[in-house]
Amino acid sequence: MFWYKINFVQRQYRISGSTANGIAESVESGVRDGGLAPGVLLPPVRRLADDLGVAANTVAAAYRTLRQRGVIETDGRRGTRIRPRPPAQPRSAMVLAVPAGARDLSYGGPDASLLPELAPALRRLDGPPAGYPAADPHPALLDLGRARLAAEGVDAAALTVTGGALDGIERCLLAHTSPGDRIALEDPGWSNLLDLIAALGLDPVGVGVDDDGPLPADLKRALHHGVRAFIVTSRAHNPTGAAVSAERAEQLKSVLAGYPDTLVIEDDHAAELAGVPLHTLAGACTHWAVVRSASKPYGPDLRLALLAGDETTVSRVKGRQRLGAGWVSHVLQRLVVALWEDPAVDAAVERAAASYDERRDGLIAALAARGVAARGRTGINVWVPLEDETNAVAALRDAGWVVAPGARFRLRSAPGIRITVSHLTVDEVAAVADAVAGALRPSDGGFRM
Ligand SMILES: Cc1ncc(COP(=O)(O)O)c(C=O)c1O
Repeated sequence: MFWYKINFVQRQYRISGSTANGIAESVESGVRDGGLAPGVLLPPVRRLADDLGVAANTVAAAYRTLRQRGVIETDGRRGTRIRPRPPAQPRSAMVLAVPAGARDLSYGGPDASLLPELAPALRRLDGPPAGYPAADPHPALLDLGRARLAAEGVDAAALTVTGGALDGIERCLLAHTSPGDRIALEDPGWSNLLDLIAALGLDPVGVGVDDDGPLPADLKRALHHGVRAFIVTSRAHNPTGAAVSAERAEQLKSVLAGYPDTLVIEDDHAAELAGVPLHTLAGACTHWAVVRSASKPYGPDLRLALLAGDETTVSRVKGRQRLGAGWVSHVLQRLVVALWEDPAVDAAVERAAASYDERRDGLIAALAARGVAARGRTGINVWVPLEDETNAVAALRDAGWVVAPGARFRLRSAPGIRITVSHLTVDEVAAVADAVAGALRPSDGGFRM
């Protein structure tokens, strides 16, 4: 029996098993009970095979299964590790620890105090509760949603409702892809999407992104290498704040025109909060979806997104949803209708957008004044490129600011840190900028302007 010392942590976890399934189960159970924490290095295939007295193929098969299920990842030189958010991981364990007295600028959610109040809208929900026959989306939500999407240039003739943007993205991927398929996505890109792609057994192919969205040349390269789908963040790109510009949308559409079988998924998670117009790629390929979330403007707990797309995609998503979850609760659907019908809510969302813009632009300007280049054209995040994420995150933590290390968002792109401004007050901007500038002393390799 062999005991692995796990990444210098006190606890040791014994991987056991004599079959590929048994070994995979054992690793997964280590993940579940915390013995194998995210980031922990697993032993090389041959060594584990020797220690367990099994053939190397058996361990390789176990690792393959775990990789396809998004539990582990292998990066040639750095070996095989537990992914940051494996699907067997209890959610609580993925939150970065925030030391007492420190401010958390790593959580990427909206400022709860800027979300519209739900109570007045809830009071307007009258009528009998919906039952099983309510499986179709709420007609008023579809009507209002269609109008909102049409105003942004999206023809939402085929439209349905999902449990948030990521649920919609997952359902589109399940409708069109199989494990092992290559998927093009932004690099850096949203960490939760990377985790989902891994858990679906899909193979991510990075597409670089500047302030105007994904780089057409990178997309072309990815398409040339046979990607099945392309996922793009329309605005408030996480983590860099990019938004697809009108010109970039045209360029991307002309690249996609050469690959009409690609599924194109647009993630419009910022929606009414984005502050810049949507330049959609819808229609560039036969199969497409625009997923528009209620989370950022109205609240993540509404768990609701509109999903517009070509008829086949929308019908597959609806048909499959009907077999499982059934539908998104009509209580939530009617609540969103009530919010959309209230002009006071529109005004609150506008105020929230202006407040985020003020904090984000303020932080970028304060960093610039200290010689630090940062990005954040739209949304609630500021991305600071630098060379040593680990040191910068540690130095900022020591200074009382918890930020997100860029490694969570990257495939092959250059390092950086993500600072979320939704919980930062205007009064704190100068102090954060000082701390970042301090953490990026030239000796640490920061990018000075
Ligand atoms: C790029 C991106 N897409 C989607 C979401 C979340 O959308 P939803 O809550 O609707 O799943 C987020 C949340 O931070 C995000 O950053």
